[in-house]
Amino acid sequence: MINQKLQSKLNTPFPVIAPSMLKCDFGNLHREVELLEAAEASVLHWDVMDGHFVPNLSYGALLIERVRPLTKMFFDAHLMVSNPEEYIDEYIKAGCDSITVHIEAVPDPQDILDHMNKSGVVPGLAISPKTPVEMIEPYLESCGLILVMSVEPGFGGQSFMESSLPKIKQLKTMIANSTILSVDGGIGMETIAEAAAAGANYFVVGSALFSQADYSIAVNELVEKARSQTASLT
Ligand code: DX5
Ligand code: ZN
Repeated sequence: MINQKLQSKLNTPFPVIAPSMLKCDFGNLHREVELLEAAEASVLHWDVMDGHFVPNLSYGALLIERVRPLTKMFFDAHLMVSNPEEYIDEYIKAGCDSITVHIEAVPDPQDILDHMNKSGVVPGLAISPKTPVEMIEPYLESCGLILVMSVEPGFGGQSFMESSLPKIKQLKTMIANSTILSVDGGIGMETIAEAAAAGANYFVVGSALFSQADYSIAVNELVEKARSQTASLT
């Protein structure tokens, strides 16, 4: 059920490059969306930070809702917020296709995952670097997307943490083939292949993409680097 929803919404081959909009040029947001669409990115990854769960503030549902009519790309919201259950309906209404909450913010996420699923949204669960995989184990079947943080959440532009690799490997053996395994933080040309080899098939990329003059070339190069290592979704 979750998998059918995922496949109908995320109609794209793997590996997937998901640009992290935290690093885009907000002064030219519409143009950035057009350029990413032209580069054949099929996802926009929206990093929502509340200044409480993480020490930084970004943007919220209102902004996502305003961008929604501009493109058909898959909207992947990553909520780095405390008490996400209080805000989840705003993100559903904003038109997000998947919404990911942190296990550290919702120690028992069953209700919120079920709510997302019933609302037609692909449910996602994220784990921060210090959190063991066992914390999310009971909920894996209720998720369409698992996000492994490879930096401490809160800021773009940090270095990739190698300690995420064994977690990705472990999770790959625990999830269904149809579940997305996403890695987020410090992904670029030097790190994407090892994350792919560990089992990730969906790569959130901020700095390494938005620092490039040509997004199309950058997306293609990242896909090529990941492709040989990536298992496809079945
Ligand atoms: C960090 C965010 C990431 C981040 C990615 O809290 O979840 O999506 O912005 O940016 P880079 O690729 O620069 O690490
Ligand atoms: Zn993110």
